[in-house]
Amino acid sequence: EKGGYEHFMLKEIHEQPNAVIDTYRGRMLVNEGIIRMAGVDDHIEKFLNANRIIIVACGTSWHAGLVAEYIFEDLARIPVEVEYASEFRYRNPIITDKDIVIAISQSGETADTRAAIQLAKEKGAFVFGVCNVVGSTISRESDAGAYTHAGPEIGVASTKAFTTQITVLTLMALKLGKANGNVSASDYHMHLQELALIPEKIKASLTSDAHIQAISDIYKDSANFLYLGRGFNFPVALEGALKLKEISYIHAEGYPAAEMKHGPIALIDEQMPVVVIATKRGHYEKVVSNIQEIKSRSGKIIAIVNEGDVHVKELADHVIEVPDTLELLSPLLTTIPLQLLSYHIAVMRDCNVDQPRNLAKSVTVE
Ligand code: F6R
Repeated sequence: EKGGYEHFMLKEIHEQPNAVIDTYRGRMLVNEGIIRMAGVDDHIEKFLNANRIIIVACGTSWHAGLVAEYIFEDLARIPVEVEYASEFRYRNPIITDKDIVIAISQSGETADTRAAIQLAKEKGAFVFGVCNVVGSTISRESDAGAYTHAGPEIGVASTKAFTTQITVLTLMALKLGKANGNVSASDYHMHLQELALIPEKIKASLTSDAHIQAISDIYKDSANFLYLGRGFNFPVALEGALKLKEISYIHAEGYPAAEMKHGPIALIDEQMPVVVIATKRGHYEKVVSNIQEIKSRSGKIIAIVNEGDVHVKELADHVIEVPDTLELLSPLLTTIPLQLLSYHIAVMRDCNVDQPRNLAKSVTVE
């Protein structure tokens, strides 16, 4: 059942190239230049007339929502807000019938997310569900939706659900950007072609496994970790920190790299590993100077870089390479080494990787 892997989490990490293919199978026709998504096509006027999109979710799904915020605003130029479902539902939010609420949920059963969509429906918003479990409550209670088709995710720590959620939301943003004229025909085709290359590039990212295992061995006893990223990769830093916390029980925080100087930099000393996403298209020069700030305070730097990087390599204690892609698609690759890092550290600390303490796969309590 674990397909030869020691844990479901590792199996699911390695399933990501195929999971992404399954997510866009039948939807993305690269040569024809078509993105077909019934849930969007059937309500295209609603989407094109929407004042804004509000994304509600919890945990890892909320992180996918943050990535989607950047992607929707960049491609479709529709204002997006991302809310923790638990905060949204209890704070008398302003919602109108010109709003679209996108609920993201792997399980489709998360109580707070369910309550958030009920509230949105009462206020007249159109609710679109992005769920993985077919026939789940949120998928049934939404007005329309798109499944992620990642296949069953058994490990409590979400991995392939995250990358496939981002895939679905990217397809939606591209489709809407083309429909509302914000994405040119040539840009649209270029994005489709790049998206089609992602599964192979995830595969390439997975080949760092042994190297990441060696890095994990060095830092497995650390008491704290910091994760930094900018732009599209800021939510990936949050997600990397969450993965480490939940399965290895090491305290970790994710931050937008530039916020470090407003507080967290005080934490940095030689005991502090800092994972920095430093791929070349995402404000590279700025991230390099953030890395210099960490280095001058003796922090240990584990950097996620693109193949062929030179600058960061000179500064970092360790680098992990991922292939180059569009900045907007880079979270699909940069997240892979962070999943593997948390996995190996958790295994080395003898933690129950697939069923961490105090956690359940779907949180049906409020
Ligand atoms: C993290 C994790 C949780 C879930 C969260 C939302 O690895 O598994 O943070 O992401 O409970 O769950 P869903 O997506 O099922 O609504």
